[in-house]
Amino acid sequence: AAASSATTSLLGFTPVAKSLADVFTVPSGYTATVIYALGDPLSAATPAFKNDGTDSDFENRAGDCHDGMEYFGLSAAGLPDQSSSDRGLLAMNHEYINQTFLHASGPTSGTRPAAEVDKEVAAHGVSVVEIKKTGGKFATVQSSSFNRRVTGLTEIEIAGPAAGHALLKTKFSLDGKKTRGTLNNCGTGKTPWGTLLTGEENWSGYFKRASGDDALRDAKSVTSLNRYGRKQNTSSRYGWETAGADDKYARWNISVTGGSTDGSDDYRNELNGQGYITEIDPYSKSAVVRKRTALGRFNHEAAAVSKPVAGKPLAVYMGDDAQNEYVYKFVSAANWDAADANPLDRIATGDKYLNNGTLYVAKFNADGSGSWLELSLGNSTVKNYATYAFADLGDVVINARLAADAVGATKMDRPEWCSVNPANGEVYFTMTNNTSRTAATVDAANPRAYTDTKGASTTQNGNVNGHIIRIAESSANPAATSFKWDVYAFGAEATAAAGVNLSGLDDSNDFSSPDGLGFTQSSGICWIQTDDGAYTDVTNCMMLAALPGTVGDGGDVSVTSGSTTLTTKMGAKPGTKLKRFLVGPYDQEITGVCESPDGKTLFVNVQHPGEGSVVANIADPSKYTSQWPSNAGYGAGKRPRSATVMITRNDGGLIGS
Ligand code: FEO
Ligand code: CA
Ligand code: CA
Ligand code: CA
Repeated sequence: AAASSATTSLLGFTPVAKSLADVFTVPSGYTATVIYALGDPLSAATPAFKNDGTDSDFENRAGDCHDGMEYFGLSAAGLPDQSSSDRGLLAMNHEYINQTFLHASGPTSGTRPAAEVDKEVAAHGVSVVEIKKTGGKFATVQSSSFNRRVTGLTEIEIAGPAAGHALLKTKFSLDGKKTRGTLNNCGTGKTPWGTLLTGEENWSGYFKRASGDDALRDAKSVTSLNRYGRKQNTSSRYGWETAGADDKYARWNISVTGGSTDGSDDYRNELNGQGYITEIDPYSKSAVVRKRTALGRFNHEAAAVSKPVAGKPLAVYMGDDAQNEYVYKFVSAANWDAADANPLDRIATGDKYLNNGTLYVAKFNADGSGSWLELSLGNSTVKNYATYAFADLGDVVINARLAADAVGATKMDRPEWCSVNPANGEVYFTMTNNTSRTAATVDAANPRAYTDTKGASTTQNGNVNGHIIRIAESSANPAATSFKWDVYAFGAEATAAAGVNLSGLDDSNDFSSPDGLGFTQSSGICWIQTDDGAYTDVTNCMMLAALPGTVGDGGDVSVTSGSTTLTTKMGAKPGTKLKRFLVGPYDQEITGVCESPDGKTLFVNVQHPGEGSVVANIADPSKYTSQWPSNAGYGAGKRPRSATVMITRNDGGLIGS
């Protein structure tokens, strides 16, 4: 009864206005409470976070740059219980680091001190933190035995078709079956058997590659490295390889240095150990972590699992976030068995569904149809690709981008997160923006290229504000190889020309650069989060709530980019079915969304507040671009911190109603 009466009043809140204030703002009648920030201790023995750059032991603290996040329920007895709204675990990504504030006086440049590098590596990865309700509200449990960190150094097994592959052989793993660390974790997913899927996104940049390295490698290796953004003579993002001779630092230099021909005495293959969907059992600190290579190697964001149906395969939807990259889907070979919903060994269950199956990439046709193109040697277009001769399926999944090139998949405007609409199985994918899209390269699925000078601090070109695509699988079958699609909504400033603001957004719901996106099961609301470079002179990043319709409900729309005009499929204009639900503090992005199963507590993350602050001003908090969450009363020190926010209704009702 509660659910049906609530459904009639969804989106009844008053929209939050755009704002540049250093404040986290929710609608009237709601309360936002910070519960878990960078550095918070995860064991009873870990000291409180001083927040002055001197804290250490991040193996027992919350990491930095909170990102994708999932809720896993616990019974009062501490057993997995997906229906529990009183006690649970939050498992979340720590995408990268705000280097300025992690050290007392900023980072040391040049040769990096080992202690700084150890801290930075440990502040990456994933954390699991127990939360428990007391007095009706959740708080973290510092001493919980469930609390866990997986970092950039944690030993992780390679699973699926690339396990044991010659391309994964390193000095650390002579059999190519393990690696260390999960890196730059962005979006997440939750499996029907109660594990976290974490996507490794911008991992390539962490590795140095020397000049002259091409000449020391075979042509295939060079093709692969170039396709994944590691040309020779490129420096690493943080210089971790400079911290010493120890193997844990040397691994960040992927240049050929050893005398072997197979990579057994250096880290020439180390890059092939990153870029996967990695599975973590949040309920067991001792459970092995496995990289699910069958799902392909690219700049992963979310991993959205189709609703499980007994006797049918599972699909996992995924995006590759870089300009002109692709949308992917994995379909399991195994059919879903409802007895696997609460297994004794969750990682073994992951082996069953995620190691064997078929990887596909999406092609969006101009008429609103689409197809999933198989990436395997069973597809002659992959097998006969002239640019790169795939040896086997392991080679295909490790070099999924090259296989997707081979089959002519559609180059998209930066596929970020995706999520399955629980009402009908349709899948929503954010295309955050694409400054390299031009009138000459637009297509029906990426139809806009324009210049934005109004409201932006600098002129931007291309698909400046992004859009959200959705697909409906043929016969609503997640294993289908064809689908229908449309553009659910185009991002735009409310004041933009009608030819840009195609979805008719107004002050209550205009947004730019959709990034995080997730449906909540309790209400069926689609939450849309922004990470914007084009609109942050007008408003801080935000989260909107949407009640979307179905693919094809808006008909055809004509889109003009320069001298190109094309027709595309658009969703019905959202109107009052899309409302701004919150605006975050200054100089951050809103990311990660999950709920307690009763829908009465929503969790979101604020990532990198104050990121634009500079080391020269580190002693003067008034010059930080943000002092959140200390200015919201949370924690010691004034340095800004990424943090998890809990949102509740003052009357205890459903969030978003
Ligand atoms: Fe980590 Fe593409 O966002
Ligand atoms: Ca993102
Ligand atoms: Ca982004
Ligand atoms: Ca980010």
